[in-house]
Amino acid sequence: MKQKILCVVGTRPEAIKMAPVINLLKQQEWVDCRVLATAQHRQMLDQVLDVFDITPDIDLNIMRPNQTLPELTARLLLELDQVLAAETPAAVLAQGDTTTVMAVAMACFYRRIPFGHIEAGLRTGDMSNPFPEEMNRVVAGNLARWHFAPTEGSRANLLRESFAAEAIHMTGNTVIDALLDVVDRCGPSPYTPAAGRRLILMTSHRRENFGAPFEEVCRAVRDLVDRNPDVELLYPVHPNPNVRDTAHRMLGGHDRIKLCDPLDYLPFVAAMKQAYFILSDSGGVQEEAPALGKPVLVLRHETERPEAVQEGVVRLVGTNYDHIITTAQRLLDDKQEYAAMAKGVSPYGDGKASERIVQILRATLS
Ligand code: UD1
Ligand code: UDP
Repeated sequence: MKQKILCVVGTRPEAIKMAPVINLLKQQEWVDCRVLATAQHRQMLDQVLDVFDITPDIDLNIMRPNQTLPELTARLLLELDQVLAAETPAAVLAQGDTTTVMAVAMACFYRRIPFGHIEAGLRTGDMSNPFPEEMNRVVAGNLARWHFAPTEGSRANLLRESFAAEAIHMTGNTVIDALLDVVDRCGPSPYTPAAGRRLILMTSHRRENFGAPFEEVCRAVRDLVDRNPDVELLYPVHPNPNVRDTAHRMLGGHDRIKLCDPLDYLPFVAAMKQAYFILSDSGGVQEEAPALGKPVLVLRHETERPEAVQEGVVRLVGTNYDHIITTAQRLLDDKQEYAAMAKGVSPYGDGKASERIVQILRATLS
């Protein structure tokens, strides 16, 4: 008999990281793979599902403009409970640390349905950073039947929290599966700087940076571009109004700063390949860029992804004006420093994480 596995996706990064698992589960004769989109993100989720040719079986269409965390959480829980009651899956899978994932884990707990947490065990140890993601992953981890940890470090975090060793599986991160799937077919970069100029790619969306910290980042970035006539900046702006309005107000109208809407995954990967380096507070970008040999300066004070920092290819610059300018300028000026950060390593996986996850599920479910 086939086992029904319900795969849940809510936001852009979840869809990217779940896509390799979903597409592999669909090929298994022992699995009835069902896909549930909460659509915590609408446009950005649909962009990714199209790229990976995934059509949700159920779509909750949850997103509202400028949604608050309590209203999002409450609506997710109620709607997810109804889906679980109707679907009665043998297992549910979700990835990462968004509100969708926390709500899925809780809804499964109330219905006593086994929950598998993909990208388990990431921790900063600080509930306020990132906010609310650290809480989301702690809750999801506490309710998981399977912990699919991407690295030895994340496995060690879970062991330290006293989860049963048999329930923790080191698989690598599925983001590398997704990246390797598209990297050779991502096409030309969506933006080409003028001849002789270098491209800096930027993304930013963290809630704990909203307001003054993000404004300071924008000031630093604008001044960095002003000081370096051979530099252009491409910034696909996250649609969260707290980001979009500030980004356009502070970075708009500059002839070497190009602001655009979020890019589809393939052109974004092409832009990462073209970039000289990347400025970002994104989790996924911290994992992908090292595999592409691109240095990342992380616009945060801490990270739950220390492996690439230890490799020397990702550096934390926070949101301080002077620190951002000094570190970015050194990377632009010092060829040796740049080469050391652009060496190309992949501490987050080998592209086979989804195979391992499916094998582990098979061993316990089929
Ligand atoms: C969410 C996740 C964050 C993740 C990020 C990835 C939570 C609390 N936050 O942050 O962990 O890193 O996604 O991008 O789970 N919007 C649109 N269209 C879209 C997506 C968002 O218009 O396709 C706008 C809407 O106004 C929406 C707002 O952005 O209300 C915020 O979306 P939300 O999912 O709550 O938070 P993010 O900041 O996107
Ligand atoms: N990404 C994308 N288009 C963009 C910006 C990012 O496809 O314009 C991809 C990126 O390659 C990575 C993922 O989106 O795989 C990261 O998503 P985001 O930064 O929104 O969330 P986080 O990873 O921080 O949770």
